[in-house]
Amino acid sequence: MILTITNTKGGVGKTTTAVNVAAGLARKGRRTLLVDLDPQAHATRCFLEETPERDATDLIMDKPGMAARAVTPTDLAELDVVAASGRLNETAELLATRIRREERLARALERIREDYRYVVIDCPPSLGILTHNGIVAADLLLVPVQPGAGAVSGIRVLLDAAGELRDEDDVPFRILVTMLDLRTSRTNALFDELLQDVRKHLLRTFVARSESINQANLAARPVLLSAPSSRGAWDYESLCDEIVRLRVPTPA
Ligand SMILES: Nc1ncnc2c1ncn2[C@@H]1O[C@H](COP(=O)(O)OP(=O)(O)OP(=O)(O)O)[C@@H](O)[C@H]1O
Ligand SMILES: [Mg+2]
Repeated sequence: MILTITNTKGGVGKTTTAVNVAAGLARKGRRTLLVDLDPQAHATRCFLEETPERDATDLIMDKPGMAARAVTPTDLAELDVVAASGRLNETAELLATRIRREERLARALERIREDYRYVVIDCPPSLGILTHNGIVAADLLLVPVQPGAGAVSGIRVLLDAAGELRDEDDVPFRILVTMLDLRTSRTNALFDELLQDVRKHLLRTFVARSESINQANLAARPVLLSAPSSRGAWDYESLCDEIVRLRVPTPA
């Protein structure tokens, strides 16, 4: 299953979710590939100390038959990574003149997806060509939202764009509430709005705001690995359990 983690809003927990879901699924013995599409490369740095020779730019720009060469193994037995780097900024420019430029990642992944039970894609916080590629490649969009002003309207904008890109009326998606702070009324009010509008797409697991996650991110580690008995690790462990149980039809 190809899971694309995306939201045009910045700082909502996309990368935190991508690295912990990838690590969590791998630790459950599911062979997993993490694809980092953000030129900031935060997800990459959680798993690789050195910059590999090939990365996501090669995956997108080379012929699909070369896809396997963009993959780098990690210290986790069941986890491989396609790294990001600043080169991705230029990739976006290079793609501007290509036809079917939104489909390049999907076509490359077709060649290697059989090797993995899950492919987890981390997107940058914009609706540019890199995110477009992530959306087109997805079996399921996983949209982290942080309760707050504009959370619901942001989801609508994303889904409209996804529908257009994929030429589908109903793009499969799930919403993950992140950085939840149950003590504030602001959270509760917006949470109600979220529930009404997109209730059936909401994942049962919520990720609470926690210091353990913040600390792990500062150290560029998934909290699941650096503080396995913390609240943050527990939330992401539950999320992985829920993902493993998800049944999403693969488009024909
Ligand atoms: N559950 C959480 N509890 C506390 N802090 C969190 C939590 N999730 C994420 N953060 C913090 O929020 C910030 C943004 O998180 P993250 O980088 O995962 O978001 P993002 O959506 O990938 O951001 P960007 O849009 O820049 O790619 C980071 O500093 C991170 O440590
Ligand atoms: Mg990010």
